[in-house]
Amino acid sequence: MDEHLISIINKLQDTLAPLGGGSQSPIDLPQITVVGSQSSGKSSVLENIVGRDFLPRGTGIVTRRPLVLQLINRRSTKASNGGSDLLDLQTQDGKTDQTDTSQKEDNTEEWGEFLHLPGKKFFNFNEIRKEIEAETERTTGKKLGISPVPINLRIYSPHVLTLTLVDLPGLTKVPVGDQPHDIERQIKSMLLTYISKPNAIILSVNPANSDLANSDGLKLAKEVDPEGKRTVGVLTKVDLMDRGTDVVDILAGRVIPLRYGYIPVINRGQKDIEMNKTIRDALKDEAQFFENHDAYRSKSAYCGTPYLARKLNSILLHHIKQKLPEIKEKIEKALKKFKAELIELGPEGMDSPNSIVLNMITDFTKEYVGILDGEATDLSSQEL
Ligand code: GDP
Ligand code: NA
Ligand code: MG
Repeated sequence: MDEHLISIINKLQDTLAPLGGGSQSPIDLPQITVVGSQSSGKSSVLENIVGRDFLPRGTGIVTRRPLVLQLINRRSTKASNGGSDLLDLQTQDGKTDQTDTSQKEDNTEEWGEFLHLPGKKFFNFNEIRKEIEAETERTTGKKLGISPVPINLRIYSPHVLTLTLVDLPGLTKVPVGDQPHDIERQIKSMLLTYISKPNAIILSVNPANSDLANSDGLKLAKEVDPEGKRTVGVLTKVDLMDRGTDVVDILAGRVIPLRYGYIPVINRGQKDIEMNKTIRDALKDEAQFFENHDAYRSKSAYCGTPYLARKLNSILLHHIKQKLPEIKEKIEKALKKFKAELIELGPEGMDSPNSIVLNMITDFTKEYVGILDGEATDLSSQEL
């Protein structure tokens, strides 16, 4: 039921995309939005959550357009291994042989689809990365320009938890290549359009090897969410911290407290990427690191990527459930408006885009109202 709720919210998002898309959508849906400075590890965190290599990543400005990433959990068609890879790693420790399948093309369990290429399924995740790069250049040009026009990508997989995530360009101060002189302001305003929406959940990514008090991403998050009520902190590069230092004070809320707290993670370093280290191996090493580290051993269940993914899923659900009445009201308003417009158009309105959208919203409402009634406000907030 919960997975279903998130997936119909995703469907609604697609339905409304032609009306103006992303941030202008009449129905402001909850999304998890990643902010942080350039090279803080944002794309790496997202890739680890998905469990596949598919994002352009590296030093310098790599992410140059917003990427709206809908992860959709679908039942495995194979008999075994129905759950999330991340969860499997914790419980079964690699019993499945799902090693790096990024080179395989015959894997029909997981695929990606871009909104700008309807009907085309990408089974090869390297091709997904290439398409993101090509589509980025289509609007920004080759010379490191940025664009606020989002790329919409869905990933269907039995190994992901259903989530909507937005990857954004990192905060930077100094223009490079063809970037405009006011690049800092441009990126800031792009990030603000996403994170200032009251129902955006802000994933603030901060490298643990630099001072949290100087974090530009966290400063920006504080501008729109001063009390830290919808900001989740992620601490990357914990492996690169100086010997004898750790993030225990931050985790305990003694530095810059956030309601949802901070989760320390370890992503692959640049060398790991060059050596083609698999995400599976990276997740194993990450778990080992926290379990064997004096400072984190006692709280290792609350460290690392699998915990982060579960926490995000449960925060998103909690958030959607709280917002359901409001979303419902907005849908009904939109419905009324479309119906009135169609009546005005008369019989010619039958094939108009409005009519198609109207049908989709009507279908959605049917499904949605059933869920709302069956939901009985079971707000399971164990992990929050
Ligand atoms: P983004 O610009 O914020 O999207 O950052 P990327 O995900 O592209 O990562 C920037 C660089 O930092 C890449 O070379 C990554 O390999 C590296 N990196 C990211 N997270 C970690 C981490 O937890 N540990 C280490 N050692 N390197 C990391
Ligand atoms: Na980068
Ligand atoms: Mg990036």
